[in-house]
Amino acid sequence: MGIETSCDETSAAVVANGKIVKSNVIFSQIDTHQRFGGVVPEIASRKHVEKITLVVEQAMAEAKINFRDLQAIAVTHGPGLAGALLVGVSVAKAMAYALKIPLLGVNHLVGHIYANFLAHPDLKPPLVCLVVSGGHTSLLYLEDHQTRRVLGSTRDDAAGEAFDKIARTLKLGYPGGPQIEKIALEGDASAIPFPRAWLEEGSLDFSFSGLKSAVINFVHNAKERGEPVHKASIAASFQAAVIDVLVEKTILAARRASVETVILAGGVAANNHLRTRMTGRATESGMRVLYPPPVLCTDNAAMIACAGHFQYLRREFAGLDLNAVPDLALV
Ligand code: KG4
Ligand code: ZN
Repeated sequence: MGIETSCDETSAAVVANGKIVKSNVIFSQIDTHQRFGGVVPEIASRKHVEKITLVVEQAMAEAKINFRDLQAIAVTHGPGLAGALLVGVSVAKAMAYALKIPLLGVNHLVGHIYANFLAHPDLKPPLVCLVVSGGHTSLLYLEDHQTRRVLGSTRDDAAGEAFDKIARTLKLGYPGGPQIEKIALEGDASAIPFPRAWLEEGSLDFSFSGLKSAVINFVHNAKERGEPVHKASIAASFQAAVIDVLVEKTILAARRASVETVILAGGVAANNHLRTRMTGRATESGMRVLYPPPVLCTDNAAMIACAGHFQYLRREFAGLDLNAVPDLALV
């Protein structure tokens, strides 16, 4: 069983052999946080407490198994919101203790990466992975299941965070990524030449704060001058600026690492424009791009169970002293 409560999704899943999703119940708190324009940590923790038992029970019922059939419990123990993480960690520890089965502490971002191994069971390292979520943007080299190297990271905002902030500026609602993607379909991506932060020659790091300020200033100036704000073209031009940088740096990283496979992970990997552009550029370079279906891109417990399965094979078990680590590092 996998359990995920790091942010605003309460999720439990049953996965067989790290491959077959028997159930993947996701209770999203979006409705609760929407009116605040973002996740309110204290409210998130309370909602997790309210829902976790129901979500676990539903995951068991949908998988049509008994608690005694579970072989291990994998839980996200970081990074994420401290109070939110603690709910999942406490439930997982109680279950592991009561059922006398191993406990596995999973890094949330490793979970996002493993959504790809769940979606593509034949996938094998070495590969380059672009992790793009609400809180993180990193390029990684996975030599094998145990060896990971960070090739580049964001120096300021994460890609998803930039989507969310621009959506707020354009009053499109929360979470911003899907809203920007939707409205961008009606806009002209070449309408406004927003800046692309390539950083130093050959750098695999990212920076989105300059782009964010450029978009906010553009909207502000248009309003000051009493000009209409073309939300769709602003969204499309912003999205193109983010994706250009994500795609070019990922392809450069894959070329340097001499890998044939690129995978996408995290909430922003659900973006169709990113998927299509990355696939096009990779194909030109003789590489293939894989990504999970949208439901496995955003937060879910099946990906945590899958990552936990690979830790189980390596016998990387956690003790009952497992704690939430809000700033848990990726490597
Ligand atoms: O991975 P995730 O569910 O949670 C974190 O671990 O952060 O990612 C959520 C992020 C949010 O910033 C959301 O706006 C973004 O992923 N996102 C998208 C799309 N769907 C979700 N960004 C762009 N396009 C999308 N379709
Ligand atoms: Zn996530």
